[in-house]
Amino acid sequence: MCGIIGYVGKNKNALHVLIAGLKALEYRGYDSAGIAFVNDNNIEIIKSEGKIKNLESKIDKNYNSNIGIGHTRWATHGCPETINSHPHRVGNVTIVHNGIIENYEQLKNELEKEGYKFISETDTEVACALIDFFYKETKNKLSALKKASSKMKGSFAFGIIFDDDLDNIYAMRKDSPLIIAVGDKENFIASDVPAILEYTNKYILLDKNEYAVINDNEIKIYDDNFNILNKEILTYGGTKEVAMKNGYEHFMLKEINDEPKVILDTYMQFVQSNLKDILSNMPDLSKYDKFDIVACGSAYHAGLVGKNLIEEYANVPVNVELASEYRYKKNFNNNKTLTILISQSGETADTLAALRKAKEKNIDTLGIINVVGSSIAREADKVIYIKAGAEISVATTKAYQAQVLILALIAINKGVVDCSISLEDAINYLNELEEIPKKIENLISNIEEYKMVAQTIYKKEHLFFLGRGIDYALSMEGSLKLKEISYIHSEAYAAGELKHGTISLIEEGTSVIAIVTDEKIDEKTVSNIKEVKARGADVTLITTEKLYKKYENSNFYDRKIIIPMSNVLFQELLTIVPLQLIAYETAKLRGESIDQPRNLAKSVTVE
Ligand code: F6R
Repeated sequence: MCGIIGYVGKNKNALHVLIAGLKALEYRGYDSAGIAFVNDNNIEIIKSEGKIKNLESKIDKNYNSNIGIGHTRWATHGCPETINSHPHRVGNVTIVHNGIIENYEQLKNELEKEGYKFISETDTEVACALIDFFYKETKNKLSALKKASSKMKGSFAFGIIFDDDLDNIYAMRKDSPLIIAVGDKENFIASDVPAILEYTNKYILLDKNEYAVINDNEIKIYDDNFNILNKEILTYGGTKEVAMKNGYEHFMLKEINDEPKVILDTYMQFVQSNLKDILSNMPDLSKYDKFDIVACGSAYHAGLVGKNLIEEYANVPVNVELASEYRYKKNFNNNKTLTILISQSGETADTLAALRKAKEKNIDTLGIINVVGSSIAREADKVIYIKAGAEISVATTKAYQAQVLILALIAINKGVVDCSISLEDAINYLNELEEIPKKIENLISNIEEYKMVAQTIYKKEHLFFLGRGIDYALSMEGSLKLKEISYIHSEAYAAGELKHGTISLIEEGTSVIAIVTDEKIDEKTVSNIKEVKARGADVTLITTEKLYKKYENSNFYDRKIIIPMSNVLFQELLTIVPLQLIAYETAKLRGESIDQPRNLAKSVTVE
């Protein structure tokens, strides 16, 4: 949520680095943006509503600076207007901020009594005034930052420039991520690696309650007692191309096309010589008799798919909870419960809070995470990385796929250790993995079919996704994907539940996307589809090759999409692909901003 970039160096014009960095971070928030830079020994601030290109058009091309900080915003306090955009400046201090200061109103009242006046509605301006207040009091910059940090409740990362020290950028963080990137006679701060990859792949992770002071030839990192730390310089393994579109029109389309490789990379991390290694190289789950899966959004939907698989094949109860609910409610767990936190970013505030809650109660935790070194990855007892690579499009696709794959592998592993799956069956299931990437590729190549479905729905105001069991979990993800990028309202319904009220919304021409892949209950779902068809619905049926043979001559659907067969443990990795691409093609027909849908951001570091 929000992106921070900062540059100090003699080699480049800071303004170019800031704008390029903000563009690379735009996926984190994009309702307004701004930069602050040093010009003739003064801090100059330029801000704008909307996307980075609006900000860019306001910048005088003749400006040249050696130091600056920039920010792209996803509004939390105060609407997305120029006045509320960052950087904020109070007294001698200019800052950019990622996160949320929960007690800002109380701090604002206290600072107003000290004579501070505020022009924006933001918590960030209050944080800026607080730092200025403590700087005036202590005359020491690090002490001022520490005092301000201890007064602020919430999550934050800051980039700061003090008026009387125009050669250095200061940084500090609590719960929002921040890296310090290491260049040659130049250094950077950033919320995420893509912002600096054009210049360097070397970076230091700033940890909670650490402070950094950087200039063009030095980086100093301090702990909370102001001891200098000798922190490891990490190397980002991915190439710049990974974070680029590679010729695709949108990141979302590129990332769906990455899925075959992501599936391969995700399971191959456990394999040394053959697929059987997956059974020995995944974390040992033998101790647990219950799993709590906790996540948000699509990661939660992946958890629902996982529940179906783990309960069916490992015979272990699974409780799937939204992290924002889990963190405030009574939880029934004990030392045989494993709490599994699923998060692409590893920074989602609610999921992180749920992890901490489980840890406080001494419940074992496992993170299923994409971003290496992210907060959840570092704090969980065990981590499985999903190997999805950088995911830039706000709507997740490839990371969701890899999350589901890990959960399917957990089902097989737990099934084998608890003897609910024979070793022979497990190996047969695993052998199927080799076919999945190719099958996903084939599904992606049927793009014309998804375009046809998109044609039938893109002018609709609402539609329904129907399914039972695992197909219901997939419906929920298909519906979310469509809603978030096309802005068409849709609802996912457990097929048998519709007649308990919602079927009254079905009328002539209502679009229904029905998913039928589960051979145990296909006939039940088909009866429900017939009920909506009888009331005039326009039905797109998504079904497997085998089930299609059964229903080939039926007339309860208007068009069909046929999914290649897989064993039941991996079928869902195939079924979701058309749903992702239907959402994509629909949003495209409507001309929406596919990679950066309104009101959203890639990493949700506020609760
Ligand atoms: C939807 C989407 C979100 C995320 C959710 C959790 O396409 O991407 O619903 O799945 O915000 O994010 P992570 O996985 O980073 O915790």
